This record gives sequence, C-alpha cells and structure tokens, in this order.
Amino acid sequence: MENGKLAISFLLFSTLLSLFHPFAAAEPSKNISAVFAFGDSTLDAGNNNDLPTLVRADHPPYGRDFPSRVPTGRFTNGKLITDFLVSALGLRDVLPTHSDRSLTMANLTTGASFASGGSGLDDLTATTSSVTTIGRQVANFEAYIWRLHAALGNDEASRIIRDAMFVIGAGSNDMIMNYYMLPARRMTFTTVSSYHTFLLSQLRKLVSYICLTNRNLMQQLYSVGARKFAIAGLPPLGCLPLQVTLETMRSSPPTLQRTCINQQNIDSMAYNALLQASIRTWNNTLPNSKFVYVDIYNPLMDMVTHPLKYGRIAS
Ligand SMILES: *[C@@H]1O[C@H](CO)[C@@H](O)[C@H](O)[C@H]1NC(C)=O
Ligand SMILES: *[C@@H]1O[C@H](CO)[C@@H](O)[C@H](O)[C@H]1NC(C)=O
Ligand SMILES: *[C@@H]1O[C@H](CO)[C@@H](O)[C@H](O)[C@H]1NC(C)=O
Repeated sequence: MENGKLAISFLLFSTLLSLFHPFAAAEPSKNISAVFAFGDSTLDAGNNNDLPTLVRADHPPYGRDFPSRVPTGRFTNGKLITDFLVSALGLRDVLPTHSDRSLTMANLTTGASFASGGSGLDDLTATTSSVTTIGRQVANFEAYIWRLHAALGNDEASRIIRDAMFVIGAGSNDMIMNYYMLPARRMTFTTVSSYHTFLLSQLRKLVSYICLTNRNLMQQLYSVGARKFAIAGLPPLGCLPLQVTLETMRSSPPTLQRTCINQQNIDSMAYNALLQASIRTWNNTLPNSKFVYVDIYNPLMDMVTHPLKYGRIAS
C-alpha cells in the first residue's frame, strides 16, 4: 500500500512536471510566480479544519508521512501533488492553505490552496457535506487578491496573479455522491452525459472567472498574461475502494469478490473525453489562457491492472 501510494504520487508528479514544458515554451521569459489550487480533497491542504463538517483530515492516521508527521488537514498520509509541484518550482516546501491563521500575507505570495475536501463542481455536493463550494472558493480567492494588492502594491500583486498557475481538481465527489449515491441529480439529469455537461459548464464558469480576476477587481487593464491552467480529469471511479465496497454490499447474494465497476469506469472515461474536448476549445477561445489536461485515469488504471509493477502485492 505504501509503495502504491508512493508510485501514485510519483506518476502524478511526472505528469505535472511535463506541464511546465508547454507553459515554458509558450512564454520562455516568464517563471511561474505562484500556484493556486481549487477543488476537492485531492488539493485541500487543510481548509476544512475549521468547518463544522465530518469531511476533515486533521486527525491520525492522516499526515503520518508528512515532513512534520502531524495531521495538517491534507487527505493523505504524506504530501499532496501541489506540494510536490511548488517545491519542484522552487517556490516553497509545501503549498499552504489561504485559511491558515498562523500565516501572514508574506507567507502566501507564492500561492495557496482554496480547495475543500468533499466539494465538487456541483454546489449541491459541497453543501450536502457542509464544505466550501467552488463559488465560495473563488470568493475567498478574490478576498486574497485584495489582501495581496494591499500588501505588495498593484504592480507586484498583478504580476503574481498574471504569472501564476491554477490547478483545478474536482468532479469525483459529484459523480460518487450526487450521481451514484443520492437520487436527486439522477432525477434532474436523466443521462450521465447530461450531468457531465452540467459539471463542465460549472468548470467553464470557474475558468472564465479566473481569467478575468485581477483585471475586473482592480478596474484597470494591467497587461494580462496567459493564465495557465492545469485541470485534472476523473480517476477510474469504479475502482475506488469505496465504490467497490458499496458494490459488494449491494450485490445479492453478497459477494466477497472485489472487482471494479465497469460502468463507472466507462462513465469516467466519457467525462474525461468531454473534458479534453472542452479544454481544447477553451484553450483556443478564452482570451489569454493556456490549458493542460492532467490524466489521472490511466496512471491509476495501470496500477490497478499491473499492481506488481509498482511493488504492491497486497493492499
Ligand atoms: C526564472 O527562474 C530562474 C531560476 O530560478 C532565474 O535564473 C531566472 O532569472 C528567472 N527568469 C525570470 C524572467 O524571472
Ligand atoms: C512566514 O513568514 C515569516 C516571516 O517572513 C517567517 O518567519 C515564517 O517562517 C514563515 N512561515 C512559513 C510557514 O512559511
Ligand atoms: C493550447 O494552445 C497552445 C497554442 O497556443 C498549444 O501549444 C497547446 O497544445 C494547446 N493545448 C491544448 C490542451 O489544446
């Protein structure tokens, strides 16, 4: 299991590193100034710690392998992918949360996580778990930008936002909770593809909003650089331990055999195909933006089908 986790981190890390190349080629003279993360538990570094929700990771066994060995609120035993990212960029050791009260603005100039575990592109997902919706994450980002301008002045603050990289990871909780588990969304969106389309329209709103932030907020046309976005697709949802367990409980007669739910993997692939097509369109139509798609599906699927390759014998 430990090896498996390490291998996952490593694979996703290599994917993220490969993201720098398209960005670097597009703007060779500019370094990435900061990283801002939005979405769910895959990018939440502890924003849920103060929320009245059960979706929290500020207790053991979380954080066991984190540098300080304390549970920080990250939904993992170690570091998040964005932690590896900021350290590879030479910005910081780990990406902090915007809500950490022990930090000052000076600690947040190289970016912050606004993500909230349990949230999704569909606001209903976050409200059901009493966590922070994407809309609220963006409002928090807006408040952050004002503080950044106040602390550093308009030119420097605008430069930081302009040269930043925006990482977005969301969608898994929408599918798991609001499509497969609870019935409300399935009644409104009678096909899985119509729900996918809805999720992507929410993502499109978020992305276009970020493209316009700073400029709108300061009511001035600073030279707007190309906003750099890295957007993660869905993992093979049908192979997530939770989904497999629920399925063994549902099957009658009950079975001990743990296998991936094929239909959910097919749905994940369909969403990822739609997301990639959307990203190509946005890349060409949203002014001053550059996108990369982060493939989570294939590295994870490879681990499920070839566990021995990753040194994982039993889980
Ligand atoms: C980019 O970063 C490198 C290494 O940190 C530095 O040497 C270079 O001057 C930076 N370039 C710009 C344009 O800031
Ligand atoms: C925050 O900034 C202060 C002052 O610059 C510094 O002493 C402290 O180490 C920083 N903390 C973190 C976690 O970066
Ligand atoms: C986005 O457009 C740039 C050229 O402006 C291109 O190099 C890059 O491959 C495109 N990315 C995607 C995901 O289509």
